[in-house]
Amino acid sequence: MAINLRGRNFITLKDFSPLEIRYLLDLSIDLKRKKRAGIRGELLERKNIVLLFEKTSTRTRCAFEVAAHDEGANVTFLTNSQMGKKESIEDTAKVLGRYYDGIEFRGFKQETVESLGKHAGVPVWNGLTDLYHPTQILADFMTIMEHVDKPLNKVKLVYAGDARNNMGNSLMIGAAKLGMDFVALAPKELFPDEKLVEEMKALGKETGSSILLTENIDDVKGADVIYTDVWVSMGEEDKFGERIELLKDYQVNMDMIKKSENPDVIFMHCLPSFHDLNTIVGRQIHEEYGLEAMEATDEVFRSKHSVVFDEAENRMHTIKAVMVATIGNL
Ligand code: CP
Ligand code: NVA
Repeated sequence: MAINLRGRNFITLKDFSPLEIRYLLDLSIDLKRKKRAGIRGELLERKNIVLLFEKTSTRTRCAFEVAAHDEGANVTFLTNSQMGKKESIEDTAKVLGRYYDGIEFRGFKQETVESLGKHAGVPVWNGLTDLYHPTQILADFMTIMEHVDKPLNKVKLVYAGDARNNMGNSLMIGAAKLGMDFVALAPKELFPDEKLVEEMKALGKETGSSILLTENIDDVKGADVIYTDVWVSMGEEDKFGERIELLKDYQVNMDMIKKSENPDVIFMHCLPSFHDLNTIVGRQIHEEYGLEAMEATDEVFRSKHSVVFDEAENRMHTIKAVMVATIGNL
């Protein structure tokens, strides 16, 4: 059956079938090869896209911009619009939908990106909300395909840390869709929402995925991938004290890597990461709580297990695939 994603929103992976996700991963691999071969792209020629950002970003913004330029689109980066303050989301969506062929949104509420998607009349792409980060998952799974010598549905992915944040939720959804074994390794206070877990476990029965929520670090055994994310997400900056208390035993360090008993285990992180003292926040945390690193040690981050910069590169190829599939001149 032919896959056609033209005109679709990309707001959560829940809306996509396993075949559609695989199609986006295959397209990402094709587009990466095309760029490496130096072939000039025209798949987004004469398209205009707008990037709405309520939260900060390095990768997502730059990935959208470079991907758009590579295939010939024009980009507007918008951080100071009237949206939400003097103009409703609905009205903003209706205006932007008349100028642009596609709209990216990064911000707080999932309802905002959903409302944009409902009213814009053109594809809306979720560049991260408090609840989900779906474009990141495509890059993560593409990176696993490149580095783990197994089909995705045989991969065991252990996510250590804040398992109820946007990354924990989205990795669990992606794993359930593609039949992976997903382990959320976290204190029970940070387990993902029960309703989402039940929904994904039910889906997993069809796809062959398993989902385990555990506080026991020994469950890292057999992992192909150990993944972590910041302990405090954007918008939660008052929570460092309580999160450090909850998560200090779940840091990805060499002991955890060894517990996987897999010499080829890969370490992944969506980035940015507090793995050293080379950031303002990292130094503040060091002064206040005495930690040299938070979610991952510098040793792991710089080790042979770490594929974090391949993963970061793949944000660009996968975001390009999402744009090409939904608005491209295919
Ligand atoms: N991983 C990620 O989304 O990075 P940015 O916050 O820099 O966009
Ligand atoms: N959970 C993190 C992801 C950053 C890419 C955050 O929301 O800040």
